[in-house]
Amino acid sequence: MQNKIANTLFIPLIARIHASKNFKQYFYDETAMKFEDKIPQKFLKISSEYESLASAARYYETDIMIKDFIATHGVCNVVNLGCGLETLAFRFGKNGAKFYSVDLAEVIEFRQNLLPQNDNETLISGDLFDMKWTEILDKSLPTIFVANGVFMYFTETKILNLIANLKANFKNSELIFDATTKFGIRCANFYVSRFGENMAKMEFCVQNGGEFASKCECEILSKTPFFATARKMLKNKTKLSTRLTMAFVDKFNLAFILRLNLRKK
Ligand SMILES: C[S@@+](CC[C@H](N)C(=O)[O-])C[C@H]1O[C@@H](n2cnc3c(N)ncnc32)[C@H](O)[C@@H]1O
Repeated sequence: MQNKIANTLFIPLIARIHASKNFKQYFYDETAMKFEDKIPQKFLKISSEYESLASAARYYETDIMIKDFIATHGVCNVVNLGCGLETLAFRFGKNGAKFYSVDLAEVIEFRQNLLPQNDNETLISGDLFDMKWTEILDKSLPTIFVANGVFMYFTETKILNLIANLKANFKNSELIFDATTKFGIRCANFYVSRFGENMAKMEFCVQNGGEFASKCECEILSKTPFFATARKMLKNKTKLSTRLTMAFVDKFNLAFILRLNLRKK
């Protein structure tokens, strides 16, 4: 693909497949499993146990937050920003939520050939920063935005500007996204570089969730360590090295999921 960030879209899909095969009790993504044969074998081998769980953990935790949002609001919008080959709408099935999946035109085209659009979702081609994609949404509905594996590829200025635009357009809305610290970003860049030179570098990091929420004048609803649940559920089921890395990441707050209420504090 032309866009370097778009090239990264296979990485989380591979992680969802790995996790679904090896840790079903924690995370199972039936739709992702259908793509195993379509992914280059060399890529499937790169993902380590820890790295698969690091990716799966964000879907596990953000799915819980989205479920909670739908249970609270009933009819609402769930918007997946930078959806890539994410199978979120398939994991949820039918309920009061309308799912929207936004990505660059070349990715949406690629996605449509690989993954048929689910009944409950609308695919939108567009640049998530220019806000044209919001035109087809009912802005009066409560809306939850999710950005998994996306924000770290941009600058903080761009992310803050996007959050300000979301706040201005959607009065009753929340945003959930995964974030890592400076050290976490360095480790993540090393991992992604193994997939080839055509992968984008990550730069946006969050050292302190509370400070970031203040910067964008939002209320912080939660800051969830990546492996909060994985470590409890998978106790002795993973390699020792995976267990130690997960414990290290959580203890030093290196990666987490922020849930923000996009209202002024
Ligand atoms: C690492 S992938 C993550 C995909 C997906 N969220 C997941 O978890 O499987 C990053 C995604 O962000 C998308 N992206 C990058 N820049 C974008 C932009 N300006 N507007 C919309 N999507 C963008 C890429 O095309 C890619 O699909």
